[in-house]
Amino acid sequence: MEFKLTATENGTRARAGILSTGHGQIETPIFMPVGTAGSVKGIHARDLKNDIKAQIILGNTYHLYLRPGTSVIETAGGLHKFNRWDGPILTDSGGYQVFSLGDIRKLSDEGARFQSHIDGSYHLFSPEKVIDIQRSIGADIMMAFDECTPGDADFDYAKKSLELTQRWLQRCFEQFEKTEPKYGYSQSLFPIVQGNTYPELRKQAAIHVKNFEADGYAIGGLSVGEPEEVMYEMTEVVNAELPENKPRYLMGVGTPVNILESIDRGVDMFDCVMPTRNGRNGMLFTSKGVINIRNKKWENDHSPIDEAENSFVDLYSKAYLRHLIISNEMLGAQIASQHNLAFYLWLVKTARQKITEGSFKSWKTNMVQQLKTRL
Ligand code: GUN
Repeated sequence: MEFKLTATENGTRARAGILSTGHGQIETPIFMPVGTAGSVKGIHARDLKNDIKAQIILGNTYHLYLRPGTSVIETAGGLHKFNRWDGPILTDSGGYQVFSLGDIRKLSDEGARFQSHIDGSYHLFSPEKVIDIQRSIGADIMMAFDECTPGDADFDYAKKSLELTQRWLQRCFEQFEKTEPKYGYSQSLFPIVQGNTYPELRKQAAIHVKNFEADGYAIGGLSVGEPEEVMYEMTEVVNAELPENKPRYLMGVGTPVNILESIDRGVDMFDCVMPTRNGRNGMLFTSKGVINIRNKKWENDHSPIDEAENSFVDLYSKAYLRHLIISNEMLGAQIASQHNLAFYLWLVKTARQKITEGSFKSWKTNMVQQLKTRL
């Protein structure tokens, strides 16, 4: 996998680049819609590509392993064939979902023993196993197995946990080297930098992952309850160490403002359930600010959802979408998700353009003010 920086801007660490995968190119900075169980909830692959203009989507090892299971995905010929998304796919390793969804029975050097959130069955995720599963899924980008510590973990816990993540990383790469892609295109493995909110741990973790000469690096363990300023500080500490010529992925982040602030600090890739999850609940992100579409204020507002019209669904009126969401109509959740994702993709596309033109910093300052407005 190749990554080429195409533009940087003075006075900011923001960068634009192109990441080439076996399923096409990704322009960075990029937002990756989350398709937990192999589907971006409520959205057809066709709309993801043509309307939302997604360039890469996410899947989850944890969910796909539990259901439908790797043998179904293997007999389909990999996840791309199964879900009919033919662009790049990144899979998270399960090293987050196991801790947030599964009922952990035992955490040890061997791995994490957990109970499925679906049927209570017992499983073990080890570094070797999550690499094997991601080989079966056929993700273009696979993630290393890690422990994501809670935002309030004390130093001793964060340090021990980081050491475990580092031992697991070594085993992930050994398994990665020992195994082959199953479907005829290459796969990359990204390490994840942990270290909680402790700058010295973060720095040491960022230096450690460089030993593996990976195609890209992820920053995990953030947006888990710590103040936003701390998240930005940790991102700065880590990005100061990571190689300039490799993509950096900030996991699970975030709001549109978080994304712009992190692009400013040198992050290239993002994912978050917020546009779809919050959309289903009636929260809409627009170029003028945030809308709670359930609000009575919109009852008779027959103007388009967003004048910027990034998606065909923006042609629907606020009043109609409000009616659909309040009535729990399926279409309401779909329109809201599609709008929000199109907005996120518009946001990162515009950031790319501004970096290329050398006007990112001033555009960001104005945009952040706009995005903080509650309409
Ligand atoms: N998604 C959001 N944060 C994390 C993290 O720390 N680790 C993993 N594996 N996935 C994440």
